[in-house]
Amino acid sequence: MGVTSEAGAVLEQVRKVRQVRQYRPDPVPAEAVDQLLEIARWTGSSRNTQPWHFIVIRDKETLRRISQLRPPINWVADAPMAIAIVLDGASQLSEAYDEGRVTERLLIAAQILGLGGGVAWFGDASQEAEAKRILGIPDDRTARSVVTIGYPKSIRDPRPNPARAGRKPISEIVSYERFGQTSA
Ligand SMILES: Cc1cc2nc3c(=O)[nH]c(=O)nc-3n(C[C@H](O)[C@H](O)[C@H](O)COP(=O)(O)O)c2cc1C
Repeated sequence: MGVTSEAGAVLEQVRKVRQVRQYRPDPVPAEAVDQLLEIARWTGSSRNTQPWHFIVIRDKETLRRISQLRPPINWVADAPMAIAIVLDGASQLSEAYDEGRVTERLLIAAQILGLGGGVAWFGDASQEAEAKRILGIPDDRTARSVVTIGYPKSIRDPRPNPARAGRKPISEIVSYERFGQTSA
């Protein structure tokens, strides 16, 4: 059976999820934030530990201080809001995986709601510690990133050294049956 047009449209939405670093100033409605948090809450995690806590940040001064942790995240200052992902700190490896899963869900849900999202990593250990101070996060928790949310103004990367755009072709990243076997 082929892909229905409805399924195709959903897949196209997911495929088109991009990192948004430039936002319109309009606030994100509270109802949309609640929906994002509900999607995040239902993310699967290692042994269903649900090792996360989310901090909804709308305060401009807090966003500005986070944006100053390092130049590649200076665009965070102009986002209308962000959600910080705080991990329990019990298992670094599985929590890093869980953090990636929940982040991607937030980005996809934002896109479906007509919003956009962006990942901003705090940086090295001292920058993470500073982010924790800014957000009042206890020392024994892990905090690496925020996901900014807002109505997209542009998906252009405004940084002086933008990340490479586009994606590698399927032929370069897929094998069949054994590594390096490039045809089915
Ligand atoms: C783990 C991770 C950390 C990232 N950290 C940052 C960051 O600190 N600053 C930033 O501008 N983009 C950051 N990004 C976004 C990537 O640069 C972006 O996903 C990639 O360039 C692809 O962008 P596109 O989907 O718009 O093509 C991060 C992405 C991931 C997955």
